[in-house]
Amino acid sequence: MAIHKSFVKGFKSELVVHSPGRINFIGEHTDYNNGFVLPTAIDKKIVFSFQKNDSEHECKIYSSSYDKMLDVNLSDLKPSKEEWENYILGVLSEISKISNGVKGFDCIIESQLPIGAGISSSAALECGLAYGLNELFNLNLSKIELVELSQRAEHNYVGTKCGIMDQFASVMSENEKVILLDCKSKHYRLIDAHFEPYKILLLNTNVSHNLASSEYNTRREECERVREIISKTYTKVKSLREVTKSMLDEYRDELTDVLYRRAYYVIEENDRVLQASELLEKKDIQGFGKLMYQSHRGLQHLYEVSCPELDFLVDFSEDYSQIIGSRMMGGGFGGCTINLIHADSVNDYIINVKEAYRKEFNIELTSFVTVPSQGTIIQANGTKH
Ligand code: GLA
Repeated sequence: MAIHKSFVKGFKSELVVHSPGRINFIGEHTDYNNGFVLPTAIDKKIVFSFQKNDSEHECKIYSSSYDKMLDVNLSDLKPSKEEWENYILGVLSEISKISNGVKGFDCIIESQLPIGAGISSSAALECGLAYGLNELFNLNLSKIELVELSQRAEHNYVGTKCGIMDQFASVMSENEKVILLDCKSKHYRLIDAHFEPYKILLLNTNVSHNLASSEYNTRREECERVREIISKTYTKVKSLREVTKSMLDEYRDELTDVLYRRAYYVIEENDRVLQASELLEKKDIQGFGKLMYQSHRGLQHLYEVSCPELDFLVDFSEDYSQIIGSRMMGGGFGGCTINLIHADSVNDYIINVKEAYRKEFNIELTSFVTVPSQGTIIQANGTKH
């Protein structure tokens, strides 16, 4: 802020965009297998302020979290060595492939989202920028186009071959709803998110093992390998979504133990998402919570994307009957657990779990209670739409 004070002071915002992080109740690592997920946006977000600067190609983008300025020339876009810059450069590059409407602009980005916490600050960054530019320059891109171009930005500039869940949830969510998304057809259904008397508590391990992005891409490749093998005879199989347990068993001898376990997890997790949505609709929150625990154990033992800190938190919660569901959330190897906890127990539990976590890892656990919230919105002259 010190160095860029005059930029911030002279800024005349024409448009403000709120772009939220997301949670996911169940359906982890299923999106890139064309499966099902159950995410929604949260009440923490990144706020973008935009102004046009009347230049053809020059952009100045200031991140208040990093206190860093990114100068971009739209006619010369290329990846940077700084990861946070690549989310932005990637979006600019992907937008320029489908529209020539973006001209010089300035932007201030203020984030309330912790990085590496598994609540998808990256999708919020990509989607908020794309959404804002669409509005500022009247590009007429649909919401789903914004979602998809943001995902491509992450593939092509950041190098994580992410699925569609995070961007979809960040843009398409609605207040007090969760999204049951079919990642194959992109059809979705909004389900009432009534968890009372339980609250949604996120516990942030505050670790982010740097395996995360390389292992993520490895998991994708492993799933793809299983698909390739099975589709030799089952030619209609285009993804693990179409693979059944009996098909998998037919191929057991051709698959390594690791590949077998990866695919087994994905098949079970897809089933769990569908079961969980039905239970939520029937307001069977206890049953819903049990599936969250099962999901965690699958991620821990079969898909192997958890870590000791996440496992500790889930194990710890199992001794408390007030917590009816708990699991790691997002890509894994750190970040948050999502917990369904009785409203009366939140404060006491946070004190207990923080102390136990500090004792075990000598790391400070952070926590927040969140609610299913609205996806990306434009806020102009005090009105939101
Ligand atoms: C990350 C990716 C998502 C999804 C999750 C795991 O958040 O960005 O696309 O694959 O991991 O469910």
